[in-house]
Amino acid sequence: MTTITSYVRYRPDLEQPFPNEEELVQQVVTAMLHANQQVAAKHRHGLRDAHAKSHGVLAGELRVKPSLPKHLAQGLFAAEHTYPVIVRFSTAPGDLRSDQVPVQRGMAIKVIGATGPRAVDDGFTTQDFLLVNHATLPFGTIGEYAKLQRLLESQPRQSDQQLQVAGLGARLAARTLSHLGRPSPPQIETLAAANNHILGETFHSMAALRYGDHVAKLSAAPRSTNVRALTGRPVDKKAGESALRDLVVDFFAHNSAEYELRAQLCTDIDRMPVEDASVLWQEELSPHQVVATLHLPAQDAYSDARRRYADDVLSYNPWHALEAHRPLGSIMRSRRSAYPRSSEFRHTFNGIEQHEPASIDELPA
Ligand code: HEM
Repeated sequence: MTTITSYVRYRPDLEQPFPNEEELVQQVVTAMLHANQQVAAKHRHGLRDAHAKSHGVLAGELRVKPSLPKHLAQGLFAAEHTYPVIVRFSTAPGDLRSDQVPVQRGMAIKVIGATGPRAVDDGFTTQDFLLVNHATLPFGTIGEYAKLQRLLESQPRQSDQQLQVAGLGARLAARTLSHLGRPSPPQIETLAAANNHILGETFHSMAALRYGDHVAKLSAAPRSTNVRALTGRPVDKKAGESALRDLVVDFFAHNSAEYELRAQLCTDIDRMPVEDASVLWQEELSPHQVVATLHLPAQDAYSDARRRYADDVLSYNPWHALEAHRPLGSIMRSRRSAYPRSSEFRHTFNGIEQHEPASIDELPA
């Protein structure tokens, strides 16, 4: 007997405003801007307010699989097609930390030439997917996120060494709690990331987005054997402050890599909510289904020209999106003002014009 899975159909009322949402978003965005100003004053250069440090900037292709079944053949993935992409690997803090600090890593994918109705009226033809190497956002609503931010603001800035020690303690605590069958509190989960080779990681959207007629979370997982072999490989403690950049540059000097882009479609809106990104969507409820391959050929992954372009000119933003991939939930809605504000600040500070690419040729070699 075959079971027919029923995928939740997208409807605008799947989203529900969070109490005092506007006020909380303003609080978060203002606090971020304040932190951003301090970091810019320190470096005398404007950086991203999150994911400031890049480790590699790659040109590649997103190859949408042919003949996807109807529930997967949606939006950008409606038909077999190859899109040029610019991928930026990064680390979460809004400052330049040592790569020996085990914090979350990011993979941002800018798909170029995505035509169709937009989620916001920006006139662009890019579709950005912003992914982090953790499946959930521990502070999964704008209310929890604002609380986290107040906590961070009340603490003095920690040095790289303090963060390394805190990470070690958190990993021990997380391991102990998991032995006891208990979930880790969000603070521990955030600090407990292991420091592994960035190219072996699996990256997640953490929050939900519209997937054409349905709703999904997206992820990118290593597919070629060379990057699968890097999963769980620790970063050498003696490899220095820019260990991740060095690993990425060395790898792509001689190798190409493939990742698979997967959609996990919502099948149960109560157990797979869009308004709380801290809830893990269980694979038993819906598997990760491959919709495209991300192909990254061998190349110079971090020339000076590329670094300047990706760090200073480019902006990734989950709202650079087709309406078919509208970001969903209070965390995603908060990002609608947070990203342009951060981008505007650093572009103005650095005297560089914002520009959204229309062609892969705009990425320097
Ligand atoms: C679902 C949760 C989230 C994910 C997966 C995520 C992921 C990312 C990634 C990968 C980047 C780097 C993009 C690049 O390479 O340029 C980034 C940047 C950034 N994120 Fe997030 N993020 C999340 C939530 C948030 C939230 C809730 C906020 C604030 C309300 C936020 C604020 C920012 C800002 C300000 C930037 C820098 C934007 C720029 O200056 O261009 N993020 N994020």
